[in-house]
Amino acid sequence: MKALVLAGGSGTRLRPITHTSAKQLVPVANKPVLFYGLEAIAAAGIRDIGIVVGDTHAEIREAVGDGAAFGLRATYLRQDAPLGLAHAVLIARDYLGDDDFVMYLGDNFIVGGIADIVARFARERPAAQIMLTKVADPRQFGVAELDAEGRVIGLEEKPLEPKSDLALVGVYLFTPEVHEAVAGLTPSGRGELEITDAIGWLIASGRRVESTIISGYWKDTGNVEDMLEVNRLVLESVEPRVAGRVDAASQVIGRVVIEPGAVVERSRIVGPVIVGAGARIADSYVGPFTSVAAGCLIADSEIEYSIMMPRAAISGVARIGASLIGHDVEVTRAPGTPRSHRLVLGDHSKVQISS
Ligand code: G1P
Repeated sequence: MKALVLAGGSGTRLRPITHTSAKQLVPVANKPVLFYGLEAIAAAGIRDIGIVVGDTHAEIREAVGDGAAFGLRATYLRQDAPLGLAHAVLIARDYLGDDDFVMYLGDNFIVGGIADIVARFARERPAAQIMLTKVADPRQFGVAELDAEGRVIGLEEKPLEPKSDLALVGVYLFTPEVHEAVAGLTPSGRGELEITDAIGWLIASGRRVESTIISGYWKDTGNVEDMLEVNRLVLESVEPRVAGRVDAASQVIGRVVIEPGAVVERSRIVGPVIVGAGARIADSYVGPFTSVAAGCLIADSEIEYSIMMPRAAISGVARIGASLIGHDVEVTRAPGTPRSHRLVLGDHSKVQISS
């Protein structure tokens, strides 16, 4: 059994972060969201993974390498344009050969892993096995219709009038029968080859399609709100550990991780919080659900419920909340009078100023 991990796409809802970085590499508790998926695949006993990459292939390769760090053997498969999930299966045809595979969307975050569903699939080998979960607004997802016995009888991609509140989670298991389904697809209204249509084809041609309704936590981390929410969830269960230096004038309260080489001076940190290696926090407050990546600086500032990516610096700013701050960003207090906001922002930046 192989895994096909989708790490392409343009990540428009996470701009400008995704102008320079892949959406799958946005850190959650200081670890790229993609890595949680790779760990879940390895934990399910899978070794060979094909990673479908697009424009951001260089960053994904740099982060994942040959996969050995995860106990995986990674092969990169280039998708020239984001033409859909089923298109990814199409270009992976040679790599996948006649193996069964799990397709895992690299920006999906699932608590509880996939070992159980992979084991069930290996035992029963239906043509496809999908995971479903109840969502508040099914119109944003693929939606399944089940019969009285719980069998999948229909699937629709982002329907305007959903037939149920059961959304397709971004983890799918297939036997090689899916290649026949994918080969006959035509682009959907949004111009993509939809995996939802391929599974629909399998159902229509009488193949067995099984579903599992998961009760655990799942998020498609496509936007800032979802990233912050997943970050909150992961931080809630980190093991507290202070390996960096905290001076006597500082207070560290609750579930807090301070990595080696990080320094905290005259500050108050209220967990859950993670502070990455080499970060420096001075004369500041860092509040709950904040991830401060390696090499960040927080001076004379207050921040909570936020993600700071590597080497970001905030200085003299109170208070930052619900924010996603990119690599090497600097946020400082404007000098002199009049006190005006001075902004140098990349394309598609979003700033909300409270004064
Ligand atoms: C894709 C699938 C959709 C599924 C979702 C899960 O949507 O097409 O059926 O529910 O992933 O994350 P997309 O991310 O392409 O909008």
